[in-house]
Amino acid sequence: MSVTKELQSTIEDMVDETRGILAADESAPTIAKRFASIETESTEENRREYRSLLVSTPGLGEYISGVILFEETLTQSNEKGTPLAEVAWNQNIVPGIKVDKGKGPLAGAPGDMITYGLDGLEDRLTRYKELGARFAKWREVYPITAHNPTQLGLTANAEMLARYAATCQASGIVPIVEPEVLMDGDHDIRRCKEVIQQVLHAVFHALHQHNVVLEHIILKPSMVTPGASLSSKAPPHEVAEATLNVLRRTVPAAVPSINFLSGGQTPVEATENLNALNQLKDQAPWQLSISYGRALQQPCLKAWQGKHENTAAAQDALLKRARLNSIARKGEYNLELEKRS
Ligand code: 13P
Repeated sequence: MSVTKELQSTIEDMVDETRGILAADESAPTIAKRFASIETESTEENRREYRSLLVSTPGLGEYISGVILFEETLTQSNEKGTPLAEVAWNQNIVPGIKVDKGKGPLAGAPGDMITYGLDGLEDRLTRYKELGARFAKWREVYPITAHNPTQLGLTANAEMLARYAATCQASGIVPIVEPEVLMDGDHDIRRCKEVIQQVLHAVFHALHQHNVVLEHIILKPSMVTPGASLSSKAPPHEVAEATLNVLRRTVPAAVPSINFLSGGQTPVEATENLNALNQLKDQAPWQLSISYGRALQQPCLKAWQGKHENTAAAQDALLKRARLNSIARKGEYNLELEKRS
């Protein structure tokens, strides 16, 4: 198959009107933190068991079209010896892989960050593809302060995302482009909107310069919200209006799907905001979907508690959130639905 056909068929398998992406690609320190919240040790076996539980949740493929895995998970199998990437694909969930190697300070731009991992990326992609990955994810992180992101931060981070995306497409791997503007801070929603607009403008400029085919990417942005340390949250319709306003100014219609990260919103908030966005979907030329990590997994982790006997309860909790987000994709979610199982 040509690289273009390969990219197109992956997009077709991942993008539709009802489903979203499950982010299960927490790095070793992050998954250790998540497990610590349920007093479970982050051993390789516990991580395998938990992620096996996620991808084998019965019926998950009805609501989830892709799962982002961490490198280790691509080499792990379920109890019957089936690789976890294959377990996912057996229920029509496309397996993908986080390929960035984490972030650190950006020299010359105090307060800004930059993500590592471009060196050797082509070779890694070849290996990940052999292991079943068909798409990848790379996250750049932008803290908001009075001085950040700087112009250098905007340009340097956009350049990384574009070089990553171009490298993926050359290998027949669909890139998820994730510029995460952090919710941390006490900035208001207008400041968040201004920053996300600058970020997306720089990202799409760089994607264009690097000849990235926009039809074959998925964008994973933050929603426009007030800073997390402000006591009052913006109502979903305000988040949706501000978010769509920025996206319409910056994201070409050629992009097939926008899959938001949850970024610290509670599971219910994240579903409410997705619902409000989809109630305005007439204004959007792209699909408006999810690529949630915490907002899909939190109730599942809580039900699991690191115990094998809680597997079914944990899977029920995951399926519930996936299903409610699928309802929100139609703009038909309401809080009453939370009360039913
Ligand atoms: P959250 O939805 O928990 O923000 O995670 C999504 C993700 O993949 C962050 O890189």
